[in-house]
Amino acid sequence: MPTDPSTFTLTIVPDEQAMSRLAADAIAATAFQIPEAAIAVPTGSTPLGMFADLVERVRRGDLDLSRVHIYCLDDYLGVGPDDPNSLTGWLQRAFLDPAGIDPNRVHAVPATDPDPAAAVLRYEAELAARGGLELAIVGLGPNGHVAYNEPGSAVGSRPRVVRLTPQSLAQASAYWEGAVPIPDHAVTVGVGTLLEARRIVLIVSGEGKAEMLRRTLHDPMSADVPASWLRSAADRLEVIADESAASRLA
Ligand code: PGA
Repeated sequence: MPTDPSTFTLTIVPDEQAMSRLAADAIAATAFQIPEAAIAVPTGSTPLGMFADLVERVRRGDLDLSRVHIYCLDDYLGVGPDDPNSLTGWLQRAFLDPAGIDPNRVHAVPATDPDPAAAVLRYEAELAARGGLELAIVGLGPNGHVAYNEPGSAVGSRPRVVRLTPQSLAQASAYWEGAVPIPDHAVTVGVGTLLEARRIVLIVSGEGKAEMLRRTLHDPMSADVPASWLRSAADRLEVIADESAASRLA
């Protein structure tokens, strides 16, 4: 569908299943070319179809993900992977374990470190030592966040502790189990971290994201919509949206 070679690549597909297949193709191609590639994947409902598609390919024997390094984008501050509310733990159950990814090659953000500010610097240094991200698959938050880079996040932001907005807390509360309140801080990779990836794929589905996708792709880039910063790496950015999510794009 419509692509403008002077900017990012936009692919509009009929439905979520087709979006998931294309995103899975991006991971499969990267893992095929570079078996030990560093790949970042998002959490949330958007990537579920992509994860299912990838697990199915692994089960059929068409794809080997056993050597890739998976980078988790974010997690709640103080919540470890064994906690039922951990985003990393969720990713482990939803995707990493069924896909046969070596747990030693899963890189969680250091959400439970006693000194998270120092720990995120180590996380970033370790990623840089690996050569940086080959591929970053990211979702679009209802408030325009990318990973947990909330509105106000700078284009050059690095991994850090952030305060979550009320909108993100409301989004998280739909999934939260057990004791409340939900931590109002998270640890996230930065926008700058994502922009350094050699390939960036933004996946978006559903009518509920249509207006935010329009703002992300058509409004001037701004910290009001952190995902819009992805366009500053336009030559490496691919947007895959289903028709519902793309319904407000001119
Ligand atoms: P969702 O979350 O896929 O559950 O809509 C996306 C995000 O917040 O990044």
